[in-house]
Amino acid sequence: MLSISDLHVAYGGTRALDGVSLDIAAGQTVLLVGANGAGKSSLINTVIGLVKARSGTISFEGREITSLDADVRARLGIGYSPEGRRVFPTMSVKDNVLAGAPQLKGQELSRRWDYLVAAFGFLAERQHQMAGQLSGGQQQLVAIARAMCGAPKLLLLDEPFLGLAPVWIEQISAAVRRMQNEGIAVLMAEQMARPALKIAHYGHVLRSGVIRRSGPTAEIRGEALAEEYL
Ligand SMILES: Nc1ncnc2c1ncn2[C@@H]1O[C@H](COP(=O)(O)OP(=O)(O)OP(=O)(O)O)[C@@H](O)[C@H]1O
Ligand SMILES: [Mg+2]
Repeated sequence: MLSISDLHVAYGGTRALDGVSLDIAAGQTVLLVGANGAGKSSLINTVIGLVKARSGTISFEGREITSLDADVRARLGIGYSPEGRRVFPTMSVKDNVLAGAPQLKGQELSRRWDYLVAAFGFLAERQHQMAGQLSGGQQQLVAIARAMCGAPKLLLLDEPFLGLAPVWIEQISAAVRRMQNEGIAVLMAEQMARPALKIAHYGHVLRSGVIRRSGPTAEIRGEALAEEYL
């Protein structure tokens, strides 16, 4: 579904990614672990089109998307939830979530809302509340629900567990499992390797912009956990 080949990214003279290649199949959850500054967000941001690659290619469903605009990539089916649980604090919970699918209207939009409420029960109770009043875990779920609202085929989650209590980590993990069952591919960047290893199928250990180790999560567990404490 997603294929990244020999990707190089730099900000001025700072190299962020130095020849990264990886693939994600439909329904597969791939974990990117690495310490602060390893290049996790740079990789995700390059896939969604926020950051431009110096060289290398990104293909989505067999089509090269390396130089497409971010909004075009989103319409092709690439969803994204940013680092730091970003919500629009003074907008209602429901409006925050529905902002993820500006192209949907009327019945289609209400069907999508019903689907998301089935996945995240608290959305129904809190729909009219301002998103800025929610707890951190709830805000993170709103950000993920927004990313899911556009019915993506590939969902990119940048540090979904950061700073969250176990109860919220469990809810987000359940949402990821639901997406796996629906055939949605997920690429998640996470410093908290332990809970992420429980839901991912495959992982890459990223250090200083280079993938140091790749494999099924059971095989890279040791290296991934060591990375947590760097
Ligand atoms: N907008 C930017 N301008 C300049 N340098 C940047 C920018 N964004 C990231 N970098 C640098 O690129 C490198 C990779 O950063 P990146 O944010 O991709 O890492 P990360 O793995 O997501 O880290 P974190 O766990 O802290 O989120 C770092 O050296 C960082 O300082
Ligand atoms: Mg980051």
